[in-house]
Amino acid sequence: MKTLSILAGMALAMAVPTVTMAQCDPGEIVAKMSVVTALQGHPKGETALALAERVNSKLDGKMCMEVYGNSELFTDADEMQALLDNEVQLLAPSLSKFEPYTSAFRIFDLPFLFDGAIAVLDYQNSVAGQELLGALDPSGLKGLGFWMNGMKQLSATRPLRLPKDAEGLTFRIQPSDVIEAQFGALGAETKRLAFSKVYDALASGEVQGQENTWSNIHTKKFYTVQDGVTESNHAYLGYLVVTNQEFMESLPEDVRNEFLLLFELTTHEYNRFAYEINEQRARDVWDETKNIISLTPEELGEWREAFQPVWEQFADDIGRDRIMLAQSFNAN
Ligand code: SIN
Repeated sequence: MKTLSILAGMALAMAVPTVTMAQCDPGEIVAKMSVVTALQGHPKGETALALAERVNSKLDGKMCMEVYGNSELFTDADEMQALLDNEVQLLAPSLSKFEPYTSAFRIFDLPFLFDGAIAVLDYQNSVAGQELLGALDPSGLKGLGFWMNGMKQLSATRPLRLPKDAEGLTFRIQPSDVIEAQFGALGAETKRLAFSKVYDALASGEVQGQENTWSNIHTKKFYTVQDGVTESNHAYLGYLVVTNQEFMESLPEDVRNEFLLLFELTTHEYNRFAYEINEQRARDVWDETKNIISLTPEELGEWREAFQPVWEQFADDIGRDRIMLAQSFNAN
C-alpha cells in the first residue's frame, strides 16, 4: 500500500492526525467507507480517517481502507443498499436513518431525553446500550459500535426563540417518525431530505428550517442561509457504524480480529473529541455571524413543554423502562 499524506485541518487540542488516503495494492482486502458528512473538522469524518490510517499502517499488505466523504460515493438514499450489495463495506449513518430496519434507535430521537452528549456516551457504553448493537442482525447488517456527534440545534429563516416561532415553517428532517412528531408538536411542516440536499433546499426556500449539530451546521454552511441558530441542545445526533455480515465473515480471522481491535481503540479515543469539535464549530459560527440565540431557562422550559406530546406518543413504543434507564445517565 502506498500512502499519500495530507494534514487534517483540526485546530484542536488533540493530536493532529495525518490523513492517509490509501492506494490499495493488489491482494489487499479493500474496505471502502462512505460517509455523507465532511471529513476534516467533523467528528465522524475525523474518526473514519483515523481508523483508516491505523488499518492501513497495521494491516499493510493484508487490508486497506479507503474513506469517501461528503456523499461522494453514496448518499443517504442508496448507501444501505450499497452496503447490502457489498459495493461499500463500512457506513456510519445517523441513528435516525435506521427506521426502515429497526425502531430500536428511536430512543435517541426523543427530544430532551438526554441532557448532553456525555450522558449519551455513558448510556451507549452501558449493557443496555451495547445490546442495541445487535438490532440490525436480522437485516444482514452488523453494528460494530457507536460514533458520537453531538446535540442538535435549531435554525430557520427567522429567529427561533420560542416554540411558536416555528409554527407554519417547513423543516428538513431525517427519516424518523419521532422527529416528524417533534416538529408536528410545534405546528410546523416537515420534509424528509437526504443530507446532501439540505443546503440547496434551505437556500432555495424549499424548506425554511433545519436541526443539526454544530459540526454539520458549520461544515455544510447551513447557517449562511438561516437567520441565526438557536442553541437548543434539544436532542442527540450520532452514528452506528455498520458493515455487512458477509463481508465481516469473509475476513481471515487474524485480519478480522486486528481490524475489530483497531476499530474499538479508535472509537474509544475519538468519541471523546466529538464534544470538543462541536464546541469549536459553534465558535466558528459565532465568529462568522454573531447570531447565535441563547435561551433562558424559562424559554428552554417552553420548548420542553412543547415537545411533551412526542413523549406521550412514543413512550410505549420505545418502552417506559428503557426511557427511565436512559434518563438515569443524565445524573452521572
Ligand atoms: C450525518 O451527520 O451523517 C448527517 C445527519 C443528517 O442527515 O442530518
